[in-house]
Amino acid sequence: MKKSAFLASLFGMSLLLACSGGSTEQTEKIVASESSTAAKVVKEEAPVSEDFMSDKGIGPVTAVVLDEAVNQEMAKKGEELYNQMCTACHKPDVNFIGPAQKGILSRRSPEWVMNMILNPQEMLEKNEYAKNLLKEYKNVPMTNQGLSREQAREIVEYFRTL
Ligand code: HEC
Repeated sequence: MKKSAFLASLFGMSLLLACSGGSTEQTEKIVASESSTAAKVVKEEAPVSEDFMSDKGIGPVTAVVLDEAVNQEMAKKGEELYNQMCTACHKPDVNFIGPAQKGILSRRSPEWVMNMILNPQEMLEKNEYAKNLLKEYKNVPMTNQGLSREQAREIVEYFRTL
């Protein structure tokens, strides 16, 4: 929506410039440079802090090492758990009551994700990123589903496959 509104306004601006007597060649140049600005702005719409990996969140998990290859067995267990315990509020690909988890490991550390699963209440009170999510999701709190640490780890492995 935002993107199309932005592009529409750029289009309007370039029409205006075209009408105010600039030559066609000039107008084309302006449009070309504006569309490259547009591409930049769109890219910056979802900013990912470069040091997101250093935000481990608050909770029992302080260090997780992910193997290079996805452990398919763990991922499968994680997927089953996710379908049982999480899909009331989450869908992998689209934002629902809570955010979509596709790509989550390129914006959050695995420790943060596990702490969010195991210790959501404290995370939502004290972690900056989680506090902002809570606001964004209309103050609907992520609930503690009582998972074990091992189960949370399996869900992280499943998230790697999304
Ligand atoms: C009652 C609804 C609900 C359930 C059930 C739920 N969540 Fe959430 N979850 C949310 C909401 C809402 C948010 C956004 C933060 C907030 O508003 O608390 C969230 C946020 C998250 C986040 C952070 C998302 C991000 O993109 O950074 C993760 C990870 C997450 N949930 C995982 C899970 C997992 C795994 C389960 C199942 C074990 C689960 N959630 C069950 C509602 C829920």
